[in-house]
Amino acid sequence: ERKKSENVVWHAGKVKKEDREKLLGQKGVILWFTGLSGSGKSTIAHDLEERLLKMGKLSYVLDGDNIRHGLNGDLGFSPEDREENIRRIGEVAKLFSDLGIITMTAFISPYKKDRQRVRELVKDGEFIEIYVKCPLDELKNRDPKGMYEKALKGEIKNFTGVSAPYEEPENPELILNTDVESIEESVEKVIEYLKNNNII
Ligand code: PPS
Repeated sequence: ERKKSENVVWHAGKVKKEDREKLLGQKGVILWFTGLSGSGKSTIAHDLEERLLKMGKLSYVLDGDNIRHGLNGDLGFSPEDREENIRRIGEVAKLFSDLGIITMTAFISPYKKDRQRVRELVKDGEFIEIYVKCPLDELKNRDPKGMYEKALKGEIKNFTGVSAPYEEPENPELILNTDVESIEESVEKVIEYLKNNNII
């Protein structure tokens, strides 16, 4: 009996990340999109997901729809809850990237130390921080969901960029300036990065 269980353990660890990557013809990485609410993180990630699929590459987007309504449905927007939100997302993203999948996350992730902690979970080069940058004034003008208006009136407390901090990335692998670039241009910049770094 004992021997059998040893064998199971041995088999479980036999297939490596590299084997799965070879199967898929790509590298498993985390594309960590960070930026203010409404900056375009989620839109860019989903367009990129579709673009990669057409190229025969497997990717997946973790964002509010599948995380804050599910796994992290118990968390709000206090600094502690945001930290826990990002910690759990980081662990999930690590698992997905271990599968060999190009894993995208689209969360504000306002704290530098929380993003840094995720970076340290994976090997060098596997955490790609993408700063989706847009001036606050532009976001306040766009405001499709009226969130900034509510935040400015004090109807939403601790709103990032208005009444809660956003700590800009210091050395992101990529910056997408969504006030001057089109979505297509931003997507193309990420594709180029993936090609130049032999990820796809
Ligand atoms: S975080 O900071 O990374 O934990 O935030 P995230 O999980 O990305 O959630 C951001 C979305 O929640 C809406 N929302 C708020 N954002 C910032 N601050 C406060 N207080 C807040 N309350 C609700 C916000 O509109 C984001 O939605 P999207 O659709 O991403 O813009």
